Amino acid sequence: MSKAVIKLTDLNKSFSHRAGNNHVLKQINLQVDVGEMVAILGQSGSGKSTLLSILGLLDVADSGCYYLCNHDVKSLSAYQLSQLRNQHVGWVFQNFNLIADMTVSENLMVPLRFNDAIKASEYANRVADVLSKVGLSDRCSFYPDELSGGQQQRVAIARALICQPDILLCDEPTGNLDSTNSRKVMDLLCDLHKEGRTVLIITHDSTVAACCQKAYSMVDGKLQLMSEQEFKYAV
Ligand SMILES: Nc1ncnc2c1ncn2[C@@H]1O[C@H](COP(=O)(O)OP(=O)(O)O)[C@@H](O)[C@H]1O
Ligand SMILES: [Mg+2]
Repeated sequence: MSKAVIKLTDLNKSFSHRAGNNHVLKQINLQVDVGEMVAILGQSGSGKSTLLSILGLLDVADSGCYYLCNHDVKSLSAYQLSQLRNQHVGWVFQNFNLIADMTVSENLMVPLRFNDAIKASEYANRVADVLSKVGLSDRCSFYPDELSGGQQQRVAIARALICQPDILLCDEPTGNLDSTNSRKVMDLLCDLHKEGRTVLIITHDSTVAACCQKAYSMVDGKLQLMSEQEFKYAV
């Protein structure tokens, strides 16, 4: 078995638009191994979210190969893709994406209900475990609008962890937070990495990238590993 959680080879993605064809991702190669914490830095519009959508199986590439946890995603049906997404990927979004009319506990149970491998009798224990991990055990009956932005993002991280995924994909996880809450969210992601979790963060914030061991830059749809010197200069 390969140690790669993500392996991309020569990936391309274009969007057709009335203004013309937009070649957004150009011959992307990327490998993320078990236990790595990796940042992808890039300006707005450089293709970061498009790449993350493909990595998280929300979109498909036009060409190239993508293996997620040794599964060739090209050969899978829509149902198999949804199961793979649910079991292997935890998503953390910039705007948290919690469901407003559900409590924290109910939000955390949503991914469990889509996971055929987890029994309903395990739900309560899983919810308690992830809430304790993000330091919000006392907020299980709160609604999202009764929480601060930082607390909402920690709930979103708990939700991302609840099916014990192989990788956390984070799209600008601190983009909507003040500096104190950004720090708390990054400390939490760093702690998860120290426990052995694999984390991929896309960001335009170099202080976020500084928490990672490895960084790639995305420029005009091309991805390049940053040298130690470039990385130091960027952060
Ligand atoms: N669904 C879409 N249809 C057409 N163009 C898109 C779509 N999604 C993204 N794009 C284009 O792809 C480019 C990269 O966007 P995106 O991946 O969101 O960049 P980033 O996350 O780095 O800001 C932009 O030029 C954007 O207009
Ligand atoms: Mg984006």
